[in-house]
Amino acid sequence: MGPPGAGKGTQGDRVAERLGIPRLSTGDMLREARKSGTPLGREAQRYMDAGELVPDDVILGIVDEALGAEAAERGFLFDGFPRTLAQADGLAALLGERDEALDAVLSLDVPDEELIARISGRRVCGSCGHVTHTRDVGDTEECPVCGGRLTQRSDDREDTVCRRLGVYREQTEPLLEYYAKSDAGLTVVDGTGRVGDVTERLFRALDEVGTGTSA
Ligand code: AP5
Repeated sequence: MGPPGAGKGTQGDRVAERLGIPRLSTGDMLREARKSGTPLGREAQRYMDAGELVPDDVILGIVDEALGAEAAERGFLFDGFPRTLAQADGLAALLGERDEALDAVLSLDVPDEELIARISGRRVCGSCGHVTHTRDVGDTEECPVCGGRLTQRSDDREDTVCRRLGVYREQTEPLLEYYAKSDAGLTVVDGTGRVGDVTERLFRALDEVGTGTSA
């Protein structure tokens, strides 16, 4: 969990790789649906471009489908889901049907000024999906990984970013207390500093809750 730009995608890739489990990002799934022009993608587009959340029933539907499709005996890493109390309750029900439970909930903590700086400079490759930042690659439009074209996400415009941060505070932040009181508990991790340092903090936090990243 964490606000827009906290590093959920960047860190989620690294943690999922270390644990050998798939990363299920509802944002990525929605962007994929938009790119393919499916009815779901068209419905999601207007919410995403306005910085609003996509309705809970739509999100729970795509998560249910993804859980059914993924062969993941060792589990899943959710990125950007759940974001509302209704989604958290829906997730508990979906996991209960599968006789599963959450092992851990991690939240990345980053101050707003840094979030805005990260989002305004974010660039994404249209070919391989690599996410980078103008602080690292400058003004180039060439992806450092595959040579594809780097562009800015359509919801990374300044006015939309402010709305996304407001929506996070109103609708998602209350979930931190919800999970702090749950069996899974909540670990808040400092998301500032170098990417590798944040990753190490996350691995340490996961080791402390016994998910075995050091194995
Ligand atoms: P989503 O795609 O999930 O976006 P988000 O939550 O707003 O988060 P971001 O992707 O902006 O940031 P991130 O935390 O992944 O940061 P990143 O690693 O990229 O959702 C988009 C939209 O889809 C939502 O607004 C909503 O409409 C809809 N949606 C999705 N899920 C939904 C749900 N469950 N319910 C309802 N609607 C939903 O990093 C950001 C930048 O910072 C990058 O450039 C990166 O290179 C850089 N960076 C990362 N770490 C560091 C570091 N340590 N130091 C310096 N730079 C860094």
